[in-house]
Amino acid sequence: MTGPDLALLGGRPVLTEPLPPYQSIGPAERAAVLAVLDSGCLSGFFGSPGPGFLGGPQVRAFEAAWRRQYDVAHAVSVNSATSGLIALMGAIGISPGDEVIVPPYSMSATAMAPIFYGGIPVFADIEPETFGLDPQAVAKVITPRTKAILVVNLFGHPARLAELRRLADTHGLYLIEDNAQAPLGREGDRWAGTVGHAGVFSLNYHKHIHTGEGGMCVTDDAHLAERLQLIRNHGENLVDPLDIPDLTNLVGMNLRMTELSAAVGLAQLAHVERHTTARERACAHLSAAIADLDGLTPPHVRPGCRHNYYCWVVLFDEHSLGLSRDTFCRALAAEGFPVRAGYLPPLYDLPLFRQGVAIGKDGFPFNLTQRRYPPGLCPTVENIEHRQLILFAPCPYDLDDDRSAALAAAIRKVHAGIPQLRGLEPQDRPELANA
Ligand SMILES: Cc1ncc(COP(=O)(O)O)c(C=O)c1O
Repeated sequence: MTGPDLALLGGRPVLTEPLPPYQSIGPAERAAVLAVLDSGCLSGFFGSPGPGFLGGPQVRAFEAAWRRQYDVAHAVSVNSATSGLIALMGAIGISPGDEVIVPPYSMSATAMAPIFYGGIPVFADIEPETFGLDPQAVAKVITPRTKAILVVNLFGHPARLAELRRLADTHGLYLIEDNAQAPLGREGDRWAGTVGHAGVFSLNYHKHIHTGEGGMCVTDDAHLAERLQLIRNHGENLVDPLDIPDLTNLVGMNLRMTELSAAVGLAQLAHVERHTTARERACAHLSAAIADLDGLTPPHVRPGCRHNYYCWVVLFDEHSLGLSRDTFCRALAAEGFPVRAGYLPPLYDLPLFRQGVAIGKDGFPFNLTQRRYPPGLCPTVENIEHRQLILFAPCPYDLDDDRSAALAAAIRKVHAGIPQLRGLEPQDRPELANA
């Protein structure tokens, strides 16, 4: 059979060198860290009343810069987005048995956050094109116990935020945004992360900009901001001096950011547009290069939205191509294209949900509810994750135009070689091998 000289079948790969790792840390970050080290003060926080309660000069400057960037009234730094999500669940007053609607298609922290306060995650299905919560699916699972909708702007594309905010407001619910992956995502004239009552950004190493580990919560609600500050920093010690009447969920933790991280974050934030634009350019190049290929659908960008491409995600139609996603991915990997078949299984597949065990031995908080998490709960997620989606996460790599062109060439080569690849199909997919 003639066709391209596929690397998986012994041919020469398109990319002969590994892609260089993504590097956003430069001289500005280095200088900022050295200045903090020279100061000797690596954290300015005190967990007791006084000026140190809100952190040191770098933390305060970083939060101020974040407020300006996102045009929000309050920014509260934390040591990770996971911490920020948990703190937000506490701040909005989640109590045992309250339901929080979440997507099953996300990193696990999204669905874990409510559980720390006894909240019950309730999964709603997603939209198949941009992978955000489907507002109609959300509306169907609202009950008198629902307290909040926790939406994720997955892969860098905003979910239907304005619509979800209207839905939340109609039912008297909080809309909280997990904006870990979309630092400059936009829906219309609004930044992703700022449409809900509060949002949280991640600053872990894998994100467009990072502080190693870190996170930032944003809100326009002064009450929520104060509660976040208390939960971040041993709130129980502060409630008397600050004269806080409602003590609910103010059992505080240490979720504080160091001066070192904040100094790096300040320098990174100054370059967030440049880093994000570079990622968007590389992914636009890839999308254009595969637009005419049958059976592959490049990422969809909803009109009026800005997609930040934390991941470049392609829908793969196994049946029209007559090839399994896994075999296609193996062939791409052999060409030097670092690709992944699928993102994460639906979160309700985690043992924690399957077995109904989270906190303590009695199955708290699941023992407060009749909710169960059977397979088939969210068919769109299951179909996409198990069959359709291939994913290239550009975050770990530095992509210039030449490297983007090489990646595009690899995908076109493998697509042209599909007839040759059919012979490699695993025996358990006869319907594809005979296509
Ligand atoms: C959607 C989403 N939410 C939450 C998190 C948790 O972020 P962090 O590692 O900063 O805690 C991540 C991390 O990748 C994420 O992708």
